Formats: sequence, C-alpha cells, structure tokens
Amino acid sequence: MKKIGILTGGGDCPGLNAVIRAVVKKSMQYDWEIIGIKNGWNGLINGEMELLTDYSVSGILPKGGTIIGTSRTNPFKNEEDVKKIIENIRKFGIEALVAIGGDDTLSVAFKLYQMGIPIVGVPKTIDNDLSGTDYTFGFDTAVSIVTEAIDRLHTTAESHHRVMVLEVMGRHAGWIATVGGIAGGADEILIPEVPFDIEEVCDHSRERYRRGKKFSIIVVAEGARPKGMESVVTKTDEKDDFGHVRLGGIGHFLAKEIEKRMNVETRVTVLGHVQRGGTPTAHDRVLATRFGVAAVELIKNGDFGKMVALQGNEIVPVELEEAVSKSKTVDMELYEIAKVFFGSSQVKKDYVDVFKSDVVNLINYTVEPTKNKEGIVVEMTVQGKIENILDRPIDTIINAEFYDKNNGCVGKSSYKIFGLRAKPSPGYSTTFAVIYSGVNVDKINHIKLYAEEFP
Ligand code: F6P
Repeated sequence: MKKIGILTGGGDCPGLNAVIRAVVKKSMQYDWEIIGIKNGWNGLINGEMELLTDYSVSGILPKGGTIIGTSRTNPFKNEEDVKKIIENIRKFGIEALVAIGGDDTLSVAFKLYQMGIPIVGVPKTIDNDLSGTDYTFGFDTAVSIVTEAIDRLHTTAESHHRVMVLEVMGRHAGWIATVGGIAGGADEILIPEVPFDIEEVCDHSRERYRRGKKFSIIVVAEGARPKGMESVVTKTDEKDDFGHVRLGGIGHFLAKEIEKRMNVETRVTVLGHVQRGGTPTAHDRVLATRFGVAAVELIKNGDFGKMVALQGNEIVPVELEEAVSKSKTVDMELYEIAKVFFGSSQVKKDYVDVFKSDVVNLINYTVEPTKNKEGIVVEMTVQGKIENILDRPIDTIINAEFYDKNNGCVGKSSYKIFGLRAKPSPGYSTTFAVIYSGVNVDKINHIKLYAEEFP
C-alpha cells in the first residue's frame, strides 16, 4: 500500500475540496492511503497530518475552502524548514506528494522535486494566471460572483445615475476583471496588463451620459494602474512569505478621480474575499474532480515533476517548471472584445477630436487608413454612425478636417446625408464615410469632425 500526502497551499479557492475528494476516492481504487497535510507547507514542516478516509471526504464536494487548511508558508525562506520537510516526508512514510496550489505553492513543489521528492501539482487559483493550463479551478466561481455583483450594481447605478467602480481580485493579471466584466456587461474594464488613462475612462462615461445612459459600471482589477504611475495603489506595504504585497485600493483612488473630474456621484464596491468564498460552480467542481483523478494517475505512472493541466478540453501533464516559469496574463484578443463595449464610442483619440452639432449626436466613429502594396497610407476613411436625429426636415453635411502635426489643416472632405429628410426621429440612426486622399496622408495625426445643416 502506497502512502500519498496531499496539501493545499496559498489562498483558498472554491474546488479545493473537490480535488481532495477525487484524490482520495481514486486512490482507494489502488488501495492507497491518503495523508492530509494541514495548512499547506506549514503542516509538512511541523508534522501536522491526518488520515483522509472515505468518511472524511463524504459531502465535501460542494463545500468552499479546504478541509485540510491552507497557508502562505514558504519553506525556502528558512533552510531549517526545508530540512524538516524532508525529514517528515521520511518519518511519515510519504511516498508521493500532491501539491494543490498556485504559482507560489507550485514553485516550492518544483524546488522539492528538483531535490528528489516525488511530487505532482494541481493548478489552483481564482486568478487564472498559471501558465501551461487554459484554466485553473476556482476561476469560474470567482467570475460568476463578479458577474452577479455587476448585475446587482446595474440596477442601483441606473436608479441613482451614478458611476459605480467595482474592484476585483486577480493579482497582476486581469482575467477575473476581463471575463467577469464581459459577462456582466461592464462599461469599462481596467486591467494590470494595460495601464489606463483616467481622462479617457471619464470620456467614455461622459459620452454615455451625453447619450442618455446616465450611469456607468467600471470594473477595475486590483493590480491595474493609471499610465505614468510606477507602482500599483495599495493600502499597506505588508508582504507575504513570497514577497507579494497585499493589493487593493485602486478602486477608491479611481472613484475619487472620476468624481472630481466628472462631477458625478461615484461609489466603490470592493468585492474582496467574497470572490473566493463559498460553493464552487458546476464547472469548477468538474474541473477540480478531473484534475484530482488525473493527479493520481500521474503518481500511478511515476510521472513526477508534472502538473495536471487543462488544454482545450483535455487534461494533460505539463512540466511544473513550465507552469511556474511565468504568469499567464490576459489574452489581448479577449480584451479587444471587452473594449467594444467601453463607453459608447470607439474614439480614436489620436485622430478624432471634435464633433459639434446641434443636429445630430455622433455615437461612434473609426478611422480606417487604406495602404498600397508598399504599405504607404494612400487614403483615410472616417467611418461613423450618428443617431438621435431630431425631428427636423433637413439634410446634413458631415465635414472632416485633416491636420498634420507640422502644417495644420492639410485637407478637408465632406459627406452629405440626404437620408435625414426621409426618416427623422429620435433613435433613428444613419452612417457616413468621409474619405480623404493626398500626398501626406500618413502624416495625419488629427481629424476634426463637425456636422452642418444643409439648406
Ligand atoms: O491569489 C488569490 C488572491 O485572492 C488574489 O486575487 C489576491 O490578491 C490575494 O489572493 C489575496 O490574498 P489574501 O487572502 O492573503 O488576502
């Protein structure tokens, strides 16, 4: 009979118990004994263990947290602790170890593996920032909680015409913010991977207010920071055993700025540990269960130094070394999808400056340069959409003035919209495209747009 140790390290996470249950149940098929190591690496240093039986894991599948406890202990901070770990592994007759954790716990696991300890890893974190796996368990639950929070914030934001800032976890990756924000329909999502411009964030909200959408929901990841700010906003300098400072505080900082600049009531919700607590979603329960069973299979095959991972729909082994080599940040294609819904318009700030009109409200515009085979910009098209055309029997000209940095206005172009006469009414929208071509098209860095009544 083999004796297998199991531990959970780092922040707790919905689905940990599902992994423990799966490891115990699958091991029973091989008649192995499972030793639960208490409170992460700390339990292995101090020899705090308990036998996990069929009875101990009964009914724990839907339970949040971890029945064996966790801690952010880093044994490599103290050489003596590493020695104690090795001694205890021998003393308790542990033949293999299952370490369930994020990058910190698994980096300890990798170091121990390099020292000859037979270890396999299971990727856990609500942050979803571990390399080598598409998803970690716990992430889906956190995203569901964020989504529900945004749904709830919508109704109160709308009633009070407020800006609502929702600060979410995720450490230095914006996965929770991006996926939760998309699911909840956030009007702005700010992530650590993309430093933000506070004035641009305000512009997006102002634009919404102008259009009659008199509220905004802004999701900000705890690790996000404004452009030009060297480090993240934190409330404390306190660091954990792995040298990580406790994040949190950007939400209040941002709300203050928004209120000052927009003069609109702004409120903050810091979701905090609510994102980590409670029952795992069905998705996380299944993923955690698959991981647990796969981890036992790795031990059975003597395939140590590996972490079980989800790639596509397959559970595969990946090297622990790969998993802890770098953190997995947000996929920028996904973030581009999120950006489609920011504010109300895709303003290309560098290009388009002004749109003034008492005739129409421009709701969005993009600038599309056309290039020739050599890659030289030969033509510039400003494409736009206007809506809320007022009930007036007029035609409209959209004028565009094209500027280059050194020479000022280098060309003008316009587009006449006859359609307004046909169906003028609030809510009605129409599109336009203003084209400019000239010798110095690629030097253009600024475009002004304005509408004119056409008599
Ligand atoms: O890594 C998970 C996580 O919840 C992070 O998103 C967050 O920054 C951190 O843990 C909070 O840690 P603690 O529970 O120690 O406050």
